[in-house]
Amino acid sequence: MVEQLLDYTGKVALVTGGSTGIGRAAALAFARQGAKVAIGNPSDAGQKTADEILGLGGEAFFLKTDVSRAESVEALVNATLDTFGGLDCAFNNAGVLPPTVSLADVDDADFDRVIGVDLKGVFLCMKYEIRHMLKVGGGAIVNTASVAGVIADPGMAAYVAAKHGVVGLTKAAALDYATQGIRVNAVAPGIVRTPMIERWLRDEAFAANLLAGSPMHRAADPEEIAGTVLFLCSSMASFTTGQVYLADGGQTAH
Ligand SMILES: NC(=O)c1ccc[n+]([C@@H]2O[C@H](COP(=O)([O-])OP(=O)(O)OC[C@H]3O[C@@H](n4cnc5c(N)ncnc54)[C@H](O)[C@@H]3O)[C@@H](O)[C@H]2O)c1
Repeated sequence: MVEQLLDYTGKVALVTGGSTGIGRAAALAFARQGAKVAIGNPSDAGQKTADEILGLGGEAFFLKTDVSRAESVEALVNATLDTFGGLDCAFNNAGVLPPTVSLADVDDADFDRVIGVDLKGVFLCMKYEIRHMLKVGGGAIVNTASVAGVIADPGMAAYVAAKHGVVGLTKAAALDYATQGIRVNAVAPGIVRTPMIERWLRDEAFAANLLAGSPMHRAADPEEIAGTVLFLCSSMASFTTGQVYLADGGQTAH
C-alpha cells in the first residue's frame, strides 16, 4: 500500500541543485520510484546524477541552470515540458552557504548571492513551475528551507534571512493555490552530511560541538531528507500544504 502511494511511475520530477548532497539523493530516490527526473545545476556535475539515473534504467536529463536568473529557470521548466511532456513535482533545493561572520561583517556581495540563490531562486522556480501546474490542474512543490528557516544561529544572518524567506514564500504560495490542486511545502533539514558543510564536519572540535546540539548526536545522510521530500510530493501528503517539515534529528524540539 505504502509502496503504491510512493509510486512515481509516469510522473515527472524537477530537482534543482541535483549534482550533490540532498538534491542528488532526492533525484535518485524519485528515479528509483519510477519518476522521470529533470536536473538543474550551474555546473556540468549535474550530468553525473542524470547519468547515474540512466544507469539505473531510469529517465533523466540535465540542464545547466542558475536558479537566481529568471531566463535560466524558465528554460529549465520549458526543457522539462519539452523532454518529458509534463511536470508533476518540483524540489526547489539549490542553495549556497556564505562564510560564518557576524552581521556587521557580512560582505554585501555574499548577502546578495545568498538571497539570489536561496530565496529568489525558490521564488523564480515556483513562478515558472506553478504557471504550468495551473494549466494542468495541479502539482506538488517542496522547497528546501533549513532549521535556519525557523530559528537563527549566530554568524549566519544572510542564510537565516534567506531560509526564513523560503518558509514565508512556501506559506504564501500554498495559500495562493490551495484551491487549484497545487500543494507547496518546505523541508527543513538539520545537519546533513553534504559538500555544503564538509568544511564544518572536517574540523573535529567544531563538528563535535555542532553534533552535541543535535539530540541524535549525528548528521543525517542526504537520503534521510530525500524520503521526506518524496513523502511530501506524494498523494500520502494530499492534505498537507503550507507546512514546514523539520527533518532535523530533533534539533528544534528543545
Ligand atoms: N547540508 C546541510 O546540513 C543543510 C541543512 C539545511 C538545509 N540545507 C539546504 O539543503 C540544500 C541542498 O544543500 P546540500 O546540503 O545538499 O549541499 P550541496 O552543496 O551538496 O548542494 C547544493 C546544490 O545547489 C547547487 N547550486 C548552487 N548554486 C546554484 C545556482 N545558482 N543554481 C542552481 N543550483 C545551484 C549546487 O551546485 C549543489 O548541487 C540547500 O538549499 C541548503 O541550504 C542543507
